[in-house]
Amino acid sequence: MGKQSLLHLLCGVCLLAVLSVSLVNAENPYRFYTWTVTYGTSSPLGVPQRVILINGQFPGPQLDVVTNDNLVINLFNKLDVPFLLTWNGIKQRKNSWQDGVLGTNCPIPPGSNYTYNIQPKDQIGSFTYFPSTGFHKAAGGYGAINVNQRPGIAVPYAPPAGDFTLLVGDWYKVDHKTLQSSMDSGNSLIPPHGVLINGKTQATFNGDQGKTYKFRISNVGLGLTLNFRIQSHTMKLVEVEGSHVMQNTYDSLDVHVGQSVTVLVTLNQAPKDYYIVASTRFTTRKLSASGILHYSNSKTSVSGPLPAEPTYQLHGSMLQARTYRWNLTSNAARPNPQGSFHYGTIKTTKTIVLSNSATKINGKQRYAVNGVSYVNPETPLKLADHFNIAGVFSMNSLKTNPTTGAATLATSVVPTSLHDFIEFVFQNNENTMQSWHLDGSSFWVVGFGSGQWAPAKRNTYNLADAVARHTTQVYPNSWTAILVSLDNQGMWNMRSAIWERQYLGQQFYLRVWTAEKSLANEYNIPSNALLCGKAVGRKP
Ligand SMILES: *[C@@H]1O[C@H](CO)[C@@H](O)[C@H](O)[C@H]1NC(C)=O
Ligand SMILES: *[C@@H]1O[C@H](CO)[C@@H](O)[C@H](O)[C@H]1NC(C)=O
Repeated sequence: MGKQSLLHLLCGVCLLAVLSVSLVNAENPYRFYTWTVTYGTSSPLGVPQRVILINGQFPGPQLDVVTNDNLVINLFNKLDVPFLLTWNGIKQRKNSWQDGVLGTNCPIPPGSNYTYNIQPKDQIGSFTYFPSTGFHKAAGGYGAINVNQRPGIAVPYAPPAGDFTLLVGDWYKVDHKTLQSSMDSGNSLIPPHGVLINGKTQATFNGDQGKTYKFRISNVGLGLTLNFRIQSHTMKLVEVEGSHVMQNTYDSLDVHVGQSVTVLVTLNQAPKDYYIVASTRFTTRKLSASGILHYSNSKTSVSGPLPAEPTYQLHGSMLQARTYRWNLTSNAARPNPQGSFHYGTIKTTKTIVLSNSATKINGKQRYAVNGVSYVNPETPLKLADHFNIAGVFSMNSLKTNPTTGAATLATSVVPTSLHDFIEFVFQNNENTMQSWHLDGSSFWVVGFGSGQWAPAKRNTYNLADAVARHTTQVYPNSWTAILVSLDNQGMWNMRSAIWERQYLGQQFYLRVWTAEKSLANEYNIPSNALLCGKAVGRKP
């Protein structure tokens, strides 16, 4: 055996050894960040307005991390009001303490700080973070969380020549505090004024002709579905919110609020510049942002009309959604194939049907689910649960089927048991697009249908290769069904990703609980936990 091949053999062995150690005995790297949140001024739509900056940036810093990294983020709040960030799609395994929503965390008071300890455990893909408090999201404060595979873990595509992150979303020129106080006094939210890509109406992405690039596209907006497309180019879908999918090719993609998709784009056209467009869908007044895809050998600037939005409408969008399939033979963050989890064969513990509604309570605009409009308590639910503080939330206000009659206000928590396997049906009887998100777990989106859901619709479910994700759309006057394996103990927010609806009550919490106290199921309360409300003076 030559020296070279012996070295190869040895290296193969040592690689295997390192690999098995890192898979079993995870002492995963720590990454430390200090983030300061301030107000700043920016003019994304041509008029100066107040925005929320993180370390002086809008959008906020991009987190480029690796599966299982320990992220220690010390967040300093220099705003004049309490603030929290939430980590959209990061599952916070055993750790709803770090979820950064008002049901799990006390908000960081002005002039103070809180150190989050988060870990994208067994996760891979494109995610985001954004402010969960007040209506701060309308001022920015959001950013990307790009979780890359560990060494030795394969992804089902060749390494791209570059990696672009596109945070797209609708945007208001009106100050976020004005929007918030208008809703506080009972009004519904006005329509947005524009669309931004990475905080701009014109962002440029550079690449070499003939090469393939990864585009991570997230809808960080407040209310509107966006259609994303690139002039003269197709997109190969590879990943959706942590799942590797069948690599279908699309001319355009509908990205609903709160969702993320990752696509590959090959620069296989003549050398010039091409438009990148994100435009509002299903609205009579069209808003759009156009970026530029610049070929490095291009001498010709963008030309021609903006690529047209798809002619397919709601029904076509639903058909597109059904083409998103889990690649059963591909792995995700772990080496085993995704398809080895046969979700379609698991017996459901129960069915919960959730119907959204727009309503007025005490003369003010509110949104409700099964007739209950959520109100944030002074004491986070998670802390109330931990310290046995009574009277903070109610576990019987939200019924597990749609109700009739006037909506009421409550701090609603739905009790479930650890390892329940639940079928949720989102029944949308309104003529508007919905987007529902769950913290703590991803779910299989097994069915979309028009009209009223009924048990017989289960015959139409995709029980083989539905995609597992954290946010799903529900079409107007339609239903969406999901299956979720509640293997993550904690207090988890289920919310409308449509931010006006979330702010005005279309949300609740799932308490995933077991009587058994074990660190194998849930971590202890962090020693630096902030205390507020009735938890003041307790000892974490
Ligand atoms: C605030 O930051 C300091 C370091 O500057 C740190 O020691 C402290 O733990 C942080 N507070 C919280 C609640 O995390
Ligand atoms: C599914 O994943 C496998 C394994 O990574 C890969 O070889 C295959 O090309 C993928 N199939 C599709 C249709 O994307």
